[in-house]
Amino acid sequence: MKKRIFSALLSVAMVASLLVGCGSSTTTTTTESTTAAEAETDAATEAATEAATEAAEAVATGDYADKKVGICIYKFDDNFMTLFRTELVNYLVSLGFTESNITVMDSKNDQAEQTNQINNFITEGVDVMIINLVNSSAAATVTDTINASGIPVVYINREPEVAEEERWATEGIKATYVGADARQSGTFQGEVLIDLGQDVVDINGDGKVSYIMIQGDPENIDAQYRTEYSVKALTDAGWEVELLGAVQRADWDQATAQQKVQDALSQYGEQIEVVFCNNDAMALGAKQALDAAGRTVGEDVFLLGVDALTEALELVQSGGMTATVFNDHIGQSHQAADAAVAFINGEEVQNTYVVDYVKVTTENAAEVLSSLQ
Ligand code: BGC
Repeated sequence: MKKRIFSALLSVAMVASLLVGCGSSTTTTTTESTTAAEAETDAATEAATEAATEAAEAVATGDYADKKVGICIYKFDDNFMTLFRTELVNYLVSLGFTESNITVMDSKNDQAEQTNQINNFITEGVDVMIINLVNSSAAATVTDTINASGIPVVYINREPEVAEEERWATEGIKATYVGADARQSGTFQGEVLIDLGQDVVDINGDGKVSYIMIQGDPENIDAQYRTEYSVKALTDAGWEVELLGAVQRADWDQATAQQKVQDALSQYGEQIEVVFCNNDAMALGAKQALDAAGRTVGEDVFLLGVDALTEALELVQSGGMTATVFNDHIGQSHQAADAAVAFINGEEVQNTYVVDYVKVTTENAAEVLSSLQ
């Protein structure tokens, strides 16, 4: 439960630090604002603790020791999904599930392989499945297969199309999706730059911000939305922007991103003012390429990621990365497990659940880091 509460507190703490920041014009105001913020934090802390306790009591009403959970992860070799699955299993165990009844499969980035694993779960008669699809476009077929067996399914991380999600509701299918709205993470990346100011980000002062875009697997809506909304935030603010070359696909992978950024650096050199990466693994690869080219983040280039991996948080804290966005694997994994439990108990389950992202800059990187440890 500890991490769940931390996660809830994170946003509370951030609101509090914002309030403190707002009132810093005079000592008196600062003190007053701090007190107000503290009061608010206390109230919110209590509320968050209560909510977490209630949620825990609600899901703890059943006996899950003999319930079987079948989990597929699109591939184990993914930093973010590794954090996610570890937390998911730990949380299920904390709810009373037995570790030996939780099966987690590595779908090895192969939809056919995942479909086999799902068929094995059906044969085994699991009580609920939690599925991180390899291809979101396979959702309809996979859902029909699982639904025909009467087993409920919770999709995580890779969101099926809205029309498919709506079909679950209209056809009374026991399926739900738990994730985050990737538009928000893209927008947050853009907002960080807006906060820095156009005169700062337009390093060469030519009136436009020139960027490269390092994209995750484009089949994934997270990659599509982050690519679009990071830049949209800038153009919505009236900034002129220029994409250097094409969007570079690096499939969420550090080594691939390092190579792509290295190539872009040899082609565009100092023209590159911003490196947008759809996730932190790729931002870490970008950072290696920038270091090798003698570029200094915060001085002659800006670098943004998403996820809040430990290494990225440390870099943001020290200024080695401009910012990241916390992709709340704790909130998402807990919500997914809670939805699985609700299915088992025959309780009502929402069509989708959306967990908020959190913007992380030098100001709150240390705080986020310590809340995750
Ligand atoms: C994360 C990526 C991850 C991907 C997997 C995204 O939400 O930000 O780091 O590779 O999910 O689908």
